[in-house]
Amino acid sequence: MDRYQSFAKSGLGRFVVGKLGLPDPYPLRRHSPAQPPLDGPVLVGGSGRLVDPVGAVVKSIGLDVVSEADRYGGLVFDASGIDSVERLRELYEFFQPVIRSLAPCGRVVVLGTPPEQAESQVAQRALEGFTRSVGKELKRGGTAQLVYVAPGAEGAIESTLRFLLSGRSAYVSGQVVRIGPADVEAPEDWDRPLAGKVALVTGASRGIGAAIADVLGRDGAHVVCLDVPAQGEELSAVANRVGGSTLQLDITAPDAPMKIVEHLTQRHHGVDIVVHNAGITRDRTLGRMDADRWDAVIAVNLASQERVDDALFAADAVRPDGRIIGVSSIAGIAGNVGQTNYATSKAGVIGVVDSLSRRVAGRATVNAVAPGFIETKMTAAVPLLIREAGRRMNSMAQGGLPVDVAETIAWFAHPASAGVNGNVVRVCGQSLLGA
Ligand SMILES: NC(=O)c1ccc[n+]([C@@H]2O[C@H](COP(=O)([O-])OP(=O)(O)OC[C@H]3O[C@@H](n4cnc5c(N)ncnc54)[C@H](O)[C@@H]3O)[C@@H](O)[C@H]2O)c1
Repeated sequence: MDRYQSFAKSGLGRFVVGKLGLPDPYPLRRHSPAQPPLDGPVLVGGSGRLVDPVGAVVKSIGLDVVSEADRYGGLVFDASGIDSVERLRELYEFFQPVIRSLAPCGRVVVLGTPPEQAESQVAQRALEGFTRSVGKELKRGGTAQLVYVAPGAEGAIESTLRFLLSGRSAYVSGQVVRIGPADVEAPEDWDRPLAGKVALVTGASRGIGAAIADVLGRDGAHVVCLDVPAQGEELSAVANRVGGSTLQLDITAPDAPMKIVEHLTQRHHGVDIVVHNAGITRDRTLGRMDADRWDAVIAVNLASQERVDDALFAADAVRPDGRIIGVSSIAGIAGNVGQTNYATSKAGVIGVVDSLSRRVAGRATVNAVAPGFIETKMTAAVPLLIREAGRRMNSMAQGGLPVDVAETIAWFAHPASAGVNGNVVRVCGQSLLGA
């Protein structure tokens, strides 16, 4: 809990927050192996082609599917068969009577058909406005998402539902996810889905990168933790903690792509998962920005990634069914004062998803997270008032934690996420910026 949250929960705080209509952040329920994924059973509704597959997944996660309860952990509606604007009323009829019975940190998931493949493109597109608004109305840590499942992808939904119907997606809300057809193999052990996989994480010595290393290591991967030599000590500590190894280099160095390829092919016979997390900010408004600031940010956040990806694919170092995962930012979607360089680089990361996901389709999936306000050293350096605004201006009224970004990346990295390709998912508590 941050300081404001503790205050808001105190007797006096509760009074002040209520009187002034201040944000009231609810402590988010995050993944813990010791507790069920959601705090209550799941109500599944709708009449499309996904009702049965969804019911089966919900049961396999260990949650009860019920037709009536006092309180629900999740509400899932299959809208994939809605083929006219008139039938959008089915959303209202399903959700209106039960939405107030959703437990704290409950989940709303609407499933649809990608509009361009649907009988009624209009009705399917309309689902987005519904889910985003529900996300904003849910208090107490609830989230709402829309998942477009392409025809033929009905068997590829499990990893996504496991992510969305659990505390792993605690800080993800108001998102639209697309799942395409793919041959998906369930892992032998859902608790260690990355067993036998090798993951490279750049910028792994601290902050979000260290959390990514932790979560991928927890899920069974051998993590190659990369950072600049100056961070060597912290990097070793992370690598030791996750049973991984280290690679010290500056990703902008001209020989960095070659060294990365050599390291991964010689020591690990290639790589399965690449997470481009290393990033920097060098903020100034454009008129005051010197060229060094521009160049450094583009070099670290974007150009080096492109060079590393090109080198890895050219050398065939990415093993079959690979995963390339970028770390963008809501600044790359919304833009931000003082961040023309950073927002350019982070919008470019979304460009990488668009172009590379097509170029390497069948060999690897390419997706990115776009974090909002995450509590790290990077955001601790932001001036107080801007920091407080960033922290509160979202549906959760609080900042996210590095683990929230890491869990989203682990979902992309999952072997059963082969149908999740070309997505950019914001981990921002449904921030008002770029919404
Ligand atoms: N913290 C947030 O709220 C937030 C929001 C949106 C996006 N992001 C993105 O998430 C990523 C991680 O952010 P963070 O907050 O953990 O930052 P951080 O500064 O704590 O960590 C970044 C890491 O990258 C490493 N790095 C920087 N330049 C490098 C280089 N040339 N070669 C190798 N390693 C290098 C640093 O040494 C550091 O360990 C960044 O890409 C950042 O832009 C963060």
